[in-house]
Amino acid sequence: MKKKRLLTKNDVQIGKPLPWSVVDSQGTLLLKAGMLVTSARQLSRLVDQQTYIDTASMSGTAGRAATKLVMAKRDAPKKGITTFDWVSAQVDRLQSAYYAVEKGAGDGPQQIKAVAILIQKAANRNASALMGGCTLHQGNSYTLSKSIHMGVLVEQIGKRLQVGEAARFSVICAALSHDIGMWLEQDQMRMQIAPLSPEQSALIQSHPGRGVEKLRAAGVEDETWLSCVGMHHERADGSGYPEGVKGEAIIPPARMIAVADIYAAMTRQRGDRIAMTSKGAQKEVFLSRGEMIDVTMAQIFIKEIGIFSPGNFVLLANGEVGVVSGRGGNAATPEVAVIIVADGRALLNAQGRDTSDRNCSVVNVIPCPDHPDLQKVLDTVWERIA
Ligand SMILES: [Fe+2]
Repeated sequence: MKKKRLLTKNDVQIGKPLPWSVVDSQGTLLLKAGMLVTSARQLSRLVDQQTYIDTASMSGTAGRAATKLVMAKRDAPKKGITTFDWVSAQVDRLQSAYYAVEKGAGDGPQQIKAVAILIQKAANRNASALMGGCTLHQGNSYTLSKSIHMGVLVEQIGKRLQVGEAARFSVICAALSHDIGMWLEQDQMRMQIAPLSPEQSALIQSHPGRGVEKLRAAGVEDETWLSCVGMHHERADGSGYPEGVKGEAIIPPARMIAVADIYAAMTRQRGDRIAMTSKGAQKEVFLSRGEMIDVTMAQIFIKEIGIFSPGNFVLLANGEVGVVSGRGGNAATPEVAVIIVADGRALLNAQGRDTSDRNCSVVNVIPCPDHPDLQKVLDTVWERIA
């Protein structure tokens, strides 16, 4: 009786315990029953390397051991929280920090720094999950949600630019507090369809400086942090505010925050304008290079974040609908977790697909699909954050 058969992509559900062990052609154990395949990339590697399902592990002593392991895995409480709960928790922390800064309570800056520490820590282990969570986060506060997203974006860009960890930390703190000069008013203005009043226009023009004043009054002395907040609306061509400085006169970390701010704003709903996909927003970043956005920063941003950023929904060539879950082999072949199969059936556990396979290639980015348990299935896409 054959003890093993070749593993195919259809045998494995990403993120679910394996019901059998996976071995190589020599029978060497690669993955024990009960372990997880956590990404489309890992699955592709297993298939490409021609690995085998150890059918013996489904029966007899080995099978019983495997079953026990699977049961134990299922019964064990899941460690960590979903990326969505993680983003929500950071939004709550940031709100508390903002109120502390408003009151001059003294620990506001420390609370902002605590969120920045958590972003750096989580981004080291779960960068794609963070990006997905930030992109899909549905919160009440536009400013707070966008600020967390920007913190994650600048950490990614900073790493790509080989900026040191301490310097990146200051930039994250600035991203987290860039709009503190008008955060209470901004959420209301965001949904306003009527033109801005003269008072609102004046507030917008002055909010970078007001933010710096508030942070300084609360005890922030980090000049990189403060300068980034003060310059986050300056533009490469001098069309920004409040000073209208341009080019090299804008410090590099402020240019980084500016592009993250523009991108994070475009990918969120504002007034009667619907949120753009990452593909649409990146096109705008590309078209704005050399004008609003520094040329080098625009190129690096597009390269690092990509047109298929985690959290965007996509249609695949085989008719399936999925969500981008991570980086793939190249910019056009991201990791995708399918949530609706070709016959329209909505899945409760997302299934990874190899988008470098022509049948599963990405056709386009699409709006949020109709799925009866969207949050439930999205919770299965990314690893939990410890
Ligand atoms: Fe702003």
